[in-house]
Amino acid sequence: MKELKDSKWFDVEYLPKEYIFSKEYRPGNLDSPVCDSIPVIDLSKVNGHVNSVEAIVKASKEFGTYLNLFDSIPGYSDSIPVTKQVINHGIPEKKVNDAMNVLKEFFNMSSKETHTKGWIYTNSTDYAKDGVHLWRENLKHPCHPIEDCIHLWPDNPTRYQEVISAYLVEIQKLSLRILELISEGLGLKSGYFKDMSEVQLLSSNIYPPCPDPSLTLGILPHQDPSLITLLYQGQSNGLQVMKDGQWINVGAIPNAFVVNIGNQLEIISNEKLKSVKHRVVNSTNETRLSIATFVNPSPDTIIEPAKVLVNEMEPSRYTPKQYKEYVQYNNAFGEYTVAIQNALRSKN
Ligand code: OGA
Ligand code: NI
Repeated sequence: MKELKDSKWFDVEYLPKEYIFSKEYRPGNLDSPVCDSIPVIDLSKVNGHVNSVEAIVKASKEFGTYLNLFDSIPGYSDSIPVTKQVINHGIPEKKVNDAMNVLKEFFNMSSKETHTKGWIYTNSTDYAKDGVHLWRENLKHPCHPIEDCIHLWPDNPTRYQEVISAYLVEIQKLSLRILELISEGLGLKSGYFKDMSEVQLLSSNIYPPCPDPSLTLGILPHQDPSLITLLYQGQSNGLQVMKDGQWINVGAIPNAFVVNIGNQLEIISNEKLKSVKHRVVNSTNETRLSIATFVNPSPDTIIEPAKVLVNEMEPSRYTPKQYKEYVQYNNAFGEYTVAIQNALRSKN
């Protein structure tokens, strides 16, 4: 009995029935192709070049919105020009690795379920559908402005707050920069998204090896309820996007961020940009750790297609709605939707 109690929930030979999805929700064919045509945008080449800005918007349109953005890695490739400015704007690999390591440590702690800080979904509290669990653990907390919400973050491991702050400072710079490029690409005025991207949420997932990935999922198919999401997935696979009715794998690229256009940007762009459906499948032998940062409008922001994108030829496809209405209606952050909205509101 003792052995059982001390072992990890995922340390099992067969998939426990609590994780077995009903047939219609199972992942189906797991031999999806890895897509190497997902646009990879080299941010070091983008600076101020209209063509590159257009390329970002084109990639977002054609590919149902997934971009892999290269941070410029000194020495990564001679063919990628690395300018000084981009190195200065790039996210140092060390900060990313430190963040991954501290999150790994957090998820490995046996005491994490007793944490009262942050919102933690463990295997026993994380429900998918009809009382079935997802094969993952998840930690969520607000993260902008950092100094206003750091008290809501785990303080164990002791360096958690320091390491995650350092990571998020970089992510916030990068996300603003990407939003600026997108606004330029859409023909919106500079700074269009600045006031709209003040609410950010960190969501980290760990997906341990799974005895039978064909019967369960790490995350159900969904679109992100954000403006954009920056996702770091390390070296592991498992993320799939729906393209032309088929699930395809988004292969991990060293030191790359996946940028996902969220529902709010789809609305603001009047569907010039599309939010892609994605999910995570499990692996029998790999542990996947991911860090998503959702860049969201604040709860009271009214989200509607940008005026300059609406005309007689292209009428508005959406009625204006406050972001909080959207979130509540769609239960966008699961069982913590209300708690997260309240935390965000009390900050303003
Ligand atoms: C999400 C998400 C993917 C991942 O948190 O919305 O899609 O790899 N995460 O954890
Ligand atoms: Ni997502």
